Amino acid sequence: MFPNMVTGWERIEFRSMTIAFVVLCFSFLILLQRRKSKLPPGPKALPFLGNLHQLDSKNLVKSLKELSDKYGPVYTIYLGSRPNVVLYGYKAVKEALVEQAENFSGRGEFPAVHRFTQGNGIAFSNGEKWKNLRRFALVTLRNFGMGKRSIEERIQEEAQFMLEEFRNTKQKTFDPTFFLSRAVSNVICSIVFGHRFDYEDKRFLSLLELINDNFLVISSAWGRFYNIFPGIMNYLPGTHNRIFTNFEKIKTFVLENVRDHEKTFQPECPRDFIDCFLIKMQKENGNPMSSFNIETLVMTTHNLFFGGTETVSTTLRYGLLILMKYPDITEKAQQEIDKVIGRNRCPTVEDRSKMPYTDAVIHEIQRFTSIIPLSLPHSVIRDTQFRGHHLPKGTNVIPVLSSVHNDPEKFKQPQIFNPDNFLDENNRFKNNDAFMPFSTGKRICLGEGLARMELFLFFTTFLQNFNFKPTVHPDEIDLSPSISGVGNVPASYQLIAVPR
Ligand code: HEM
Repeated sequence: MFPNMVTGWERIEFRSMTIAFVVLCFSFLILLQRRKSKLPPGPKALPFLGNLHQLDSKNLVKSLKELSDKYGPVYTIYLGSRPNVVLYGYKAVKEALVEQAENFSGRGEFPAVHRFTQGNGIAFSNGEKWKNLRRFALVTLRNFGMGKRSIEERIQEEAQFMLEEFRNTKQKTFDPTFFLSRAVSNVICSIVFGHRFDYEDKRFLSLLELINDNFLVISSAWGRFYNIFPGIMNYLPGTHNRIFTNFEKIKTFVLENVRDHEKTFQPECPRDFIDCFLIKMQKENGNPMSSFNIETLVMTTHNLFFGGTETVSTTLRYGLLILMKYPDITEKAQQEIDKVIGRNRCPTVEDRSKMPYTDAVIHEIQRFTSIIPLSLPHSVIRDTQFRGHHLPKGTNVIPVLSSVHNDPEKFKQPQIFNPDNFLDENNRFKNNDAFMPFSTGKRICLGEGLARMELFLFFTTFLQNFNFKPTVHPDEIDLSPSISGVGNVPASYQLIAVPR
């Protein structure tokens, strides 16, 4: 009986505590609401779902455009219960990522990748760890020839291997996806692992399939759903689980390579990126705060391997489709290639400055396709004032790069593919500061120099040696992406490579 006896005083005390608790919760909610209300305006969000019902899962970019028509270039959407500040159009993206570069340099939440990286690796780390890894990777990649002649030769060699593969198709139709990704991936593999892989290597091919599949799944509705509701999706069956099994297999491959390197490396004579990282780890041995350990090595290697493969090869694949749709543009580029390079030697990076039309075509391919349309998520690293709004530290930010590429103030008729966007009245190459396929600011793509070299050398080598024929009439080629999420992915297609 005794424990159940409640005295009058206890009852009063309990009631006051309850009232105090309710008042406290209420004040907290009001505080939260106040802080929220200082975020940029945006559509009304539903509890739990946020604005999910207003976003077309097949075409997120289109939904973001419609919302910007209503709420302006800076607005807030809730993905689940998490607010995300959207930057739409050139001015908003530049004001944030360039003019307040440091404040907007954080990597935002990306649960589908976080479950795997745990915040290690360059692309998904933050703070000192990110700064140290990024600085180290930039210097090391440059030492191994990124942006230099040595890597140019590697790309030229790989382009020749690919030509051979094209010739072997004997003018039969084929899907170019893995022809392109094997060649592109081998360039970054040479820098990171110290060697290229044979095109027949089954393990290499299956890795490229895993990378390609992850790009597709992360960009699909499954990937988007996982990013919004990771807590629930972790327990549900579905396609999203492929992301993690794929990642695990890629990680095992990278880890095995690292272990092989550990057995054979000589500190005085580093062979590749992994060797340099191992040396750095040895130097920092004993520093518990070091950013250089086996986890960050595996994730950074993975970032370079993944980032260096799928982006460039998707741009090439999309680019070939565009070139087949516009044979007049292709022919004009081929005439320039014939005039400046001829048919008997490999294209070099030096040729680019004498080839404004081809250069403009490649820029236009990157603008038009915007293959990473929403960049990777950013966040603010401290409380930030932006256009009269208050963004608390850690707020996720989505810079819509495709909106910059489609900004009518920066490009005439942006919905039309037109290389003139990058030519002046004298047909000289003309840059445009709204060209941002690699993003801008402190997080700008680490592989930009390498990617630009690859795109120029691969495209010119293809066009110098082949005419590409579609299997349908050019007018019937649909250039809209079949998936538009993290990546803009073209519909799969077949082509015929006819030697010139
Ligand atoms: C056409 C090819 C490429 C495109 C369009 C592209 C695009 C991008 C974009 C949009 C970002 C996000 C930037 C941001 O957060 O604001 C990024 C980051 C990154 N990219 Fe690329 N990329 C390409 C090629 C490459 C290559 C070849 C490599 C490897 C050498 C690479 C490695 C990375 C890394 C490591 C990051 C993370 C940078 C950081 O968080 O500090 N990318 N890329």
